[in-house]
Amino acid sequence: ALRRVSSPSASSHLLRRSYCVESKPERKVAVLGAAGGIGQPLALLMKLNPLVSSLSLYDIAGTPGVAADVSHINTRSQVAGYMGDDQLGQALEGADLVIIPAGVPRKPGMTRDDLFNINAGIVKSLCTAIAKYCPNALVNMISNPVNSTVPIAAEVFKKAGTYDEKKLFGVTTLDVVRAKTFYAGKAKVPVAEANVPVVGGHAGITILPLFSQATPKSNNLSDEDIVALTKRTQDGGTEVVEAKAGKGSATLSMAYAGAVFADACLKGLNGVPDVVECSFVQSTIVPDLPYFASKVKLGKNGVEEVLGLGPLSDYEKQGLESLKHELKASIEKGIKFATQS
Ligand code: NAD
Ligand code: LMR
Repeated sequence: ALRRVSSPSASSHLLRRSYCVESKPERKVAVLGAAGGIGQPLALLMKLNPLVSSLSLYDIAGTPGVAADVSHINTRSQVAGYMGDDQLGQALEGADLVIIPAGVPRKPGMTRDDLFNINAGIVKSLCTAIAKYCPNALVNMISNPVNSTVPIAAEVFKKAGTYDEKKLFGVTTLDVVRAKTFYAGKAKVPVAEANVPVVGGHAGITILPLFSQATPKSNNLSDEDIVALTKRTQDGGTEVVEAKAGKGSATLSMAYAGAVFADACLKGLNGVPDVVECSFVQSTIVPDLPYFASKVKLGKNGVEEVLGLGPLSDYEKQGLESLKHELKASIEKGIKFATQS
């Protein structure tokens, strides 16, 4: 009775389980700005992601504490904290995915572009290090103004000879998260099933939610409802900035959105089929706008395909026309900064 041998079916079940666990590839994810308002909850959410085997937390200060704290959570990844310039290389070495929420957030009355002067330099120096230490990593850019920081990153990588347009993403997932929430509330559809593509960029009118393509379809929404939903999505960031009254911008919903997008990137890298998310990437779908957010199919090398816009309502066509000027100017501002400084 002491010699208990498992039945063949039980042991093959065990084997199958351990095969599944071990077959997940090793993936190192680095978060730059990990001690910040977004960085800390994002570190927590990435620690909960079973696709991550190594979690590298970098900031100019405060990372030892965040790393020690998060490292006690009993999930797969090994956590390490890195602090200051001289540890940045180690933090990045071997990373498959780098998420960047480093930089200053808005205060009431500011636009995202008002952050340019400080954040452009931060992004430039971090991307210079990425080009040196993990040139093949996917980069998820959260730092604002995203419409300019993505072109800055691209120019830094081009200068370093490491640019791969398939691997650079501006994170616009929070716009999608908001559009889904607001749409579900108004259309009275289950929020967990709601889907709304958001295209364009990530600032004010450059954020263009396509409610005409929202699912589940709703016949309850008037034109005024669509205008109000569009405006609320475009102003979602400002709604949070004002509610926080000087204490920063969205951090918790952003950490959630950042974790959703990072998970999609990791699934793509791991070969999971049909992973599609909206993101601000190098694009040819709108003439004159070399970067544009739209649905993107993610694969083993990052962007597998930039998907087209699909049919737009007249209101959305107008929105697309109105955003072009601002988005183009923000892209050009980023390119100019990176090429001239
Ligand atoms: P925060 O000030 O709370 O945190 C920023 C962190 O970046 C700080 O811990 C700071 O020490 C760190 N940092 C500064 N310089 C750095 C450097 N050179 N290297 C590494 N870390 C550095 O700000 P937050 O609320 O976390 O917001 C961060 C950024 O994310 C802001 O630019 C904000 O506008 C942007 N943001 C973007 C979205 C989006 O949808 N893409 C949403 C919310 C916020
Ligand atoms: C957001 O959309 O919440 C972020 O871009 C932060 C901001 O400044 O609004």
